[in-house]
Amino acid sequence: MTEQALSAQIRILPGGEHRLLTGIADGSRVTLAGARTHHAYEGLTRAIETLGPEMTLAQVEASGLRGRGGGGYPTAAKWRAARDATAGRKVVVANLIGADPTALGDRALAEGNPHLILEGLMIAAFATGASEAIIAVRTDWPVAIERLRAAVAEADAARLAGYLVLGTDFSCTVSVWQGAAALVAGEETALLAALAGDRGMPVIRPPYPTERGLGGDPTTVQNAETLAHAAWILRHGTQEFRSVGSADSPGTKLVSIYGRVANPGLAEVALGSPLSTLVKIAGGGSGTTKAVFVGGPGGGALGADELDTPYDFEPLRRAGAGIGLGQVLVTDSDTCMVDTARFFLDYSAREACGKAVPCRIGTRRLVETLDRILAATPRPNDLLLLRELSRKMTDTALCHLESRAPGPMLTTIERFEGEYRAHAERGECPAGSCRALDVAPLLAPLSGVEPAAS
Ligand SMILES: Cc1cc2nc3c(=O)[nH]c(=O)nc-3n(C[C@H](O)[C@H](O)[C@H](O)COP(=O)(O)O)c2cc1C
Repeated sequence: MTEQALSAQIRILPGGEHRLLTGIADGSRVTLAGARTHHAYEGLTRAIETLGPEMTLAQVEASGLRGRGGGGYPTAAKWRAARDATAGRKVVVANLIGADPTALGDRALAEGNPHLILEGLMIAAFATGASEAIIAVRTDWPVAIERLRAAVAEADAARLAGYLVLGTDFSCTVSVWQGAAALVAGEETALLAALAGDRGMPVIRPPYPTERGLGGDPTTVQNAETLAHAAWILRHGTQEFRSVGSADSPGTKLVSIYGRVANPGLAEVALGSPLSTLVKIAGGGSGTTKAVFVGGPGGGALGADELDTPYDFEPLRRAGAGIGLGQVLVTDSDTCMVDTARFFLDYSAREACGKAVPCRIGTRRLVETLDRILAATPRPNDLLLLRELSRKMTDTALCHLESRAPGPMLTTIERFEGEYRAHAERGECPAGSCRALDVAPLLAPLSGVEPAAS
C-alpha cells in the first residue's frame, strides 16, 4: 500500500501568518529544485559565506527564537552552550520522534518542506561546530522518512550538507534515523538513549545534552519547527522574524486546531495571538464553546471566558496549560470535561515508559480514579486523591511526561468541578455525552426480559 502524505490531506488554514506553511500542501518544496525556487539554502549560504559561526549564533540570539518543542527554551542559549563546550565531536539532532497524533506541524513540515528542516539543522551544526547531524523520525511517518532521506541525498550531492559544504572546510554528515513511535521518546534524553541503542527512557538532567549527550559528546537536540524557523531567520533577517509575535516570544508557531470548530486543520499563528483568534482561524466554534485544551496530553484546559489569553509560553503556563507541540482542541457544551481529561490521561499512562514508578503507577491510578467518578462509584475523597497524587507525581517526576500528565485533569477540576461532582454524586453527565455513562445502560439487564437459565 502506498502511504499518502499527511501534508497533502490536512487542511492548511488560510488565516494567520504563513512563513513555514507556504508551499506545504502542493508539494512544491519537496525536491531541491522546487525548494530552491522558494529560496532554500540562502540562509545557510549567508551563514557560511558571509557571517561565520559566531555571527550566525548572534543572529539567532537577536531573533529571540525559542524552542517550539514545548519548553520554549532560548535556542541561542543552547547553541552557545554547545559551541563553548570543548570536545572532539559535537552532534546536532532534529527531534521528530515523540509527537502525539494530533500534533500535525512537524510531520507536515517534514513531508512538505524537508529542505527547510535540513537547512536549519546545517545552520545549527555550523554555529555549534558539530560534525554530525541526525534527523530522528518516528517510524510511523514513512512519507516524512522517505522525503527527508531524499532531501539529504540531494543536499549532499549539491554540497549543501555532508563534506566540504559550499566548497568550504565545514563538513557535517547527516543521517536519517527512524525510531519506534512513542510520546516519551520525544523527551530529549530518552531520544538520545534510543539513538545510542538503549531503550528510549529519560535520564535525570543535568548534565544537559549540550554538556554530555550522544556518546558523551555535546549534543544539541532541537525541535524540527525550531530548525525551520532558524533557517527562515538566516534567510529573512531578525527584524523580519520579530515583526510578528510577542516581545518575549517572537515569530510564529504551527498549530493544529481541531474539535468543535468549523474548519479543523493546521495553521501558522503569531505567538501572543489571543486564543479566540485561533478559534476564529479554524472557522469559529459551535456557539457553545466550553473549554479549549491547549498543549495536548501535557497541556491543560482554559474556559470559554479565558479566550483572550495570549497563545504564548508564559501566559499558557500560568493558566496551567502549555504550548506543547501546538495542539489546540476546542470543545463545547456537548463535550464531557471528565471524559476528555480521562482521554488525555489514559494516553499518557499508555505512553509512559515505566522507568519512574510514580509515573507508571500514578498515571494508571489517576485513570482508575477517574473511571470510578465516571461510573458514579467514587470512594470518599476521590477528588482530593486526584489532586494529592498529581502533586506527588509532579514533585518526584523524572521527566515532563509525568509532571505534566495530570494537567488536563487538574485544569478541568479547577474550572469544571461541578461536572466531576455531577458524575460522582448523581451519576449525571452535564454534557450528556461521556462514554462511561453511555456504556452504563449496555451493562444493565434489559427490562422486561427474563435472563436465560444457565
Ligand atoms: C513526553 C515528552 C515528549 C516530547 N516530545 C517532543 C517531540 O515530539 N518533539 C520535540 O521536538 N520535542 C519534544 N519534547 C521536548 C524535548 O525534550 C526537547 O525539549 C526539545 O526537542 C528541544 O527542542 P526545542 O528547544 O527546539 O524545543 C518532548 C518532551 C517530553 C517530556
